[in-house]
Amino acid sequence: MCGIVGYVGKRNAIPIILEGLKRLEYRGYDSAGIAFIDKEKKLKIHKRAGKIVSLERMLPPPSELDGNIGIAHTRWATHGKPTTINAHPHTSCNNKFAVVHNGIIENFKNLRNKLIEEGHTFESDTDTEILAHLFEHFAKENDDFTLIAQEALKLVEGTFGIAVICSDFPDQMIAARKGSPLILGIGKDEFFITSDVNAIVIHTKRVIYLQDGEVVSIDKNKFEITTLDNEIVDAVISEIDWDVSAIEKGNFKHFMLKEIFEQPTSVKNAFRGRLVESRSTVRLGGLLSNGEDLRDIKSIQIIACGTSWHSALIGKHIIEKLARIPVEVEYASEYRYRNPIIPDGTNVFVISQSGETADTLAALREAQSKGAKVSGITNVIGSTIARESDNGIYIHAGAEIGVASTKAFTSQVTVLSLLAVFLGRMKYLSAEFCAQFIKELWKIPQKIQKVLDNNDHIKKVAETIVDSTNALYLGRGANYPVALEGALKLKEISYIHAEGYPAAEMKHGPIALIDENMPVITIALKDAIYEKIISNMQEVKARSGRILTIATEGDTSIESLSESVIYIPKTMDILQPLLSVIPLQLLAYHVADLRGLDVDQPRNLAKSVTVE
Ligand code: G6P
Repeated sequence: MCGIVGYVGKRNAIPIILEGLKRLEYRGYDSAGIAFIDKEKKLKIHKRAGKIVSLERMLPPPSELDGNIGIAHTRWATHGKPTTINAHPHTSCNNKFAVVHNGIIENFKNLRNKLIEEGHTFESDTDTEILAHLFEHFAKENDDFTLIAQEALKLVEGTFGIAVICSDFPDQMIAARKGSPLILGIGKDEFFITSDVNAIVIHTKRVIYLQDGEVVSIDKNKFEITTLDNEIVDAVISEIDWDVSAIEKGNFKHFMLKEIFEQPTSVKNAFRGRLVESRSTVRLGGLLSNGEDLRDIKSIQIIACGTSWHSALIGKHIIEKLARIPVEVEYASEYRYRNPIIPDGTNVFVISQSGETADTLAALREAQSKGAKVSGITNVIGSTIARESDNGIYIHAGAEIGVASTKAFTSQVTVLSLLAVFLGRMKYLSAEFCAQFIKELWKIPQKIQKVLDNNDHIKKVAETIVDSTNALYLGRGANYPVALEGALKLKEISYIHAEGYPAAEMKHGPIALIDENMPVITIALKDAIYEKIISNMQEVKARSGRILTIATEGDTSIESLSESVIYIPKTMDILQPLLSVIPLQLLAYHVADLRGLDVDQPRNLAKSVTVE
């Protein structure tokens, strides 16, 4: 989704902001643009529909690209088509102010009509353009850039993360946020503004996460943060604690493949330091603020979107099994608009890799406004959901760049299994069971590695379905959400229509689709319901369906039912999803790659969906 990068300092801003934009390509976008103040103190703007390379191709020669202050943007269209005119930055009538904006201005029609009455003319269909005109309007009454920004932004309803430059204030940049993330990076005699730390981490690891309603004024020597009412804010500087290599592809062809292969480590990072062997339990420090309350919780609601919603479904399965607490799982987008009932004694969990998904954030606020305690399960440290939750658990998966979420999913599931044991151990679970769980969890990273070592075989299986137009994924129990996740991965990056189903539901509809062209990817592991799923496979086979099976190592008898089999190691039932999802991730990856598609930036998708 939309990305912002800005630079103020002694260096030439243009290569820095263009480089930063490229680091944000993974978020998904359909146009890009830059603005800077040149050496003659003139505002220069270049923008273009399409990819950043198209923008670069139309830029003037490097000698004309020189300035110490600049802003840049990648746009994911909401208001208005993805055209060059609608691309950011947008300018005022007098061509002095240039604005880049993430978020949505809800009262933009109203503001636009008023500005038109005043004589302003608009070029684009975007909500953003009104900001540039509003700044111009308030500049008539004020000669202080910060005060102009505060007055303009007080009129704006909706969400924004913005960066603004103006040729009348050639050494100053203004940035502000309300509901859309914005980060100030602090370098030596230079500052950065971004909506995503990935864009600036190669330059600095010292950052300030701006809060809603804050405005920052920056020049090359200093910055000052104020509220919209011009009160000075004493902000806290944080250190980014991960390495730049996290946002490099290394030897991998795609970020998605790199992230799939990182899972032995990322899963270990999700549980390391949280297992208390001596007491056969787990420790979740981030939840301790209401550890006692958690002992008394009567029900749980988990709210999420996309892949995080699939991990929530697995969480439901494991928590109900181990802690005997009823769990409801909700799509955030539905939850926020249906006046949810939150019974006394309910703890709400929100799960979000990015910590910025607009629907999940709104659902969190809705739950809090009804008096519920909300715990956030997030990856991005300092993200809005992490900050607004009452307490929470970080999954520590490291930066996830591929739009199709992979390692965040397994880290979420790992953390949810820890949560289930944590809650279960307060009441029902024996020390013996937990000791066994801890022992098994320690073995998971090497078992994931074993599945990854089978990558060549999985690629061969992918070759057999590369021309399919549909696919069905079946699983039961905790592997039903894994089937959903496998189908989602295939849809997202290969554009093959795929559906996930609980295997026994197949006979209530999807069975009508089965013929010799339909690949049915079935998770059939040696667990309590193995025999049941074998019956479902027989039903597919009887109708000439092509069965591709994910099976437990050693289960050779399943080969007679299957066109191909991918084996995974045996583990405890509740930990199986951590292994069964890996071949499905690889399968989707290889199908998309064999089809020659852009795996890391699939069409129309965004990594972090910060609008409704
Ligand atoms: C987008 C991404 C998905 C992700 C979903 C929820 O749709 O493309 O990969 O699962 O948002 O994101 P979150 O950051 O809240 O987990």
